[in-house]
Amino acid sequence: MKVNSSKVLIIDFGSQYTQLIARKVRESGIYCEIYPFSSRIEKIKDFNPAAIILSGGPSSVYDKGAPLISNEIFKIDVPFLGICYGMQLIAYLLSGEVKPAKNREYGYSKLEITKKSKLFAGCGDDDPVWMSHGDIIVSPPNDFIITSKTGNGNIASFENKEKKIYGLQFHPEVAHTICGHKILNNFLFDIAEVKKDWKLSDFIEDKIKEIKTEISSGNNGNNAICALSGGVDSTVAAVLVSRAIGDKLVCIFVDNGLLRENEARDVFKFYKENLSLNVKLVKAEKIFLSALKGVSDPEKKRKIIGKLFINIFEKEADKIKNAKFLVQGTLYPDVIESVPVYGSSSIIKSHHNVGGLPKKFNFKLIEPLRELFKDEVRLIGKKLNIPDAITERQPFPGPGLAIRVIGEVTGNSLKMLRKADTIVAEEIKKNNLYNKIWQSFPVIIPVKTVGVMGDKRSYESLIAIRAVTSLDGMTADFAQLDYEILRQISSRIISEVKGVNRVVYDISSKPPSTIEWE
Ligand code: XMP
Repeated sequence: MKVNSSKVLIIDFGSQYTQLIARKVRESGIYCEIYPFSSRIEKIKDFNPAAIILSGGPSSVYDKGAPLISNEIFKIDVPFLGICYGMQLIAYLLSGEVKPAKNREYGYSKLEITKKSKLFAGCGDDDPVWMSHGDIIVSPPNDFIITSKTGNGNIASFENKEKKIYGLQFHPEVAHTICGHKILNNFLFDIAEVKKDWKLSDFIEDKIKEIKTEISSGNNGNNAICALSGGVDSTVAAVLVSRAIGDKLVCIFVDNGLLRENEARDVFKFYKENLSLNVKLVKAEKIFLSALKGVSDPEKKRKIIGKLFINIFEKEADKIKNAKFLVQGTLYPDVIESVPVYGSSSIIKSHHNVGGLPKKFNFKLIEPLRELFKDEVRLIGKKLNIPDAITERQPFPGPGLAIRVIGEVTGNSLKMLRKADTIVAEEIKKNNLYNKIWQSFPVIIPVKTVGVMGDKRSYESLIAIRAVTSLDGMTADFAQLDYEILRQISSRIISEVKGVNRVVYDISSKPPSTIEWE
C-alpha cells in the first residue's frame, strides 16, 4: 500500500533517546511527531503516518507494568522500525522469544551483518554500533529472518521484508553508531519511501501566512502581545509573528534587575534597532529588589519573581488596545507527553514554567514554535537574521541572577556577581568554549573566608564557578575545563571583583546535584 503521507510517527516507550530519534528524522527532511505508547490505535491511525518507529525504553517486556501496545498496531499497513526495546516488543507481540541476557550489553559492539538487508545498504561489516540493553531476543517471530549479530553472537537485527517490519537491537540514532544515519535513511527513504518535504524555510513562510490569517480573521484591528526575555525562543517567536503582523505585535521586555551586565540595555536596543520589533521596556529593578529584600529561600524567591512578572505584564497588557493574542515561545519538548515509565517524577524545583503565563489570561495563544526542537529554532533564528549572540545564547533561568546569589539578594551581591559573570563569559568565549558548554556562570555564596592580599589579612566573599556540559539540561556533567582557563578566571575575578578573595570550581554532576545552586 502506498500511504499518502510524508509524516513519521515515533511511539515512545520511555527511552532517553526518543527525542534524538525525532531530531534525526527531521534532519533527514521528514516531519515526525512523538506519541506516548499509551495512545489509542485510532489516534495513531488519524496521524496518518507513512512509517512508524517504536522507540527504546528502560523496561523489560516482562516487567510488571511494562509499557506495551496492542498488536493491532501491526494492522496499520506501513513499515515499522523497532529500536532496542521497540524491537523486543515486536518479538514479544508477534510470538518471538525475549529473555534476560547473562550480561547486559552496554556501549560499543561490532555489527556482523549475516544476511543482506536493504536496511544496511552502504554500511560496512564490523561497523561499531551502540548498545544499551539487558534483554536479548532468542528467537525472532515466525517469518522473520535474522540479518545481523553483535560481537557476542546475540541477535542485532531482524526483519520481515514482505510486511516491512524491521528491528534493531542497537541505537541508530546515537552518534556512536557510525552507520546509524545511513540505516535510518535506508529505512525512511528506501524501505518506507517517505517523501522528504520538511524544510525549515518552507516552515517560516507557511507559519507567517498561518499567523497572518489567524490574527486578522474576523477583525483586522486585533493586536498580539509577547513577553520577551532576551532568550532565543521568545525572540524567534516574536520575530516570526512580527513578520506576519508588523507593529500589531507589541512586545514587552521587563528589566527585573536580575539580568547580566548591560543586558537589558543592549538587548532592548537590539530588539528595536536590528530586529525592528515594536517593543516596550519596563524598568522594574527597584520593585523586584525590594520584593526580594530579606528573602533567602530559593522557592520563595522564584515565586516572588514569577508573580511580580505576571503583575507587571498584566498591567502593561491592559494598556494595549484590542490585544487578543498572546505569543509564547513554547517548544516541542514542552508539548510532548512524557512517558511516566518510572512513575511521575516529583517536583524538584518549581521552574521551567516561570516564562509561562497563567491560563486565566483571556488571550488566544499563538505558539509558532510548538512543533520545533531547540536546534530547529536556532536555525530558524539564523534564517530570520537573528544574530548568534541571541540564537547561540546559553540558557538563562527566568529568575536570573537571583538564584545565583545564594541566600538574600542585595544590590551589592548582584553587582559583584555581574562583574564575575562578565569575566567568566569573556574567558569561556576567548577559549571558544561558549557553544560547547551548556552553561557557564559564577555563583556567589554567602560565606566569608580568610585570605591575604598584599600583606594584609582579608576576609571576603566566595564565588563558585559552575560550568556543565549537557544535551538538554535534564542531566549534566561538570565541564572538564583546562586548569589554565580556570586559573585565568579565578585570578581575574579575585583581582577585578572587589570583595571576593576566593574562587572554587563545582565538580558535581546532575543528578545528584542540579545545574543551578538554588
Ligand atoms: P537545574 O538547576 O534544575 O536547571 O539543573 C536545569 C535548567 O533549567 C534552568 N533553570 C530555570 N529556568 N526558571 C527557568 O526558566 C527557573 O526557575 C530555573 N531554574 C533552573 C537552568 O538554568 C538549567 O538550564
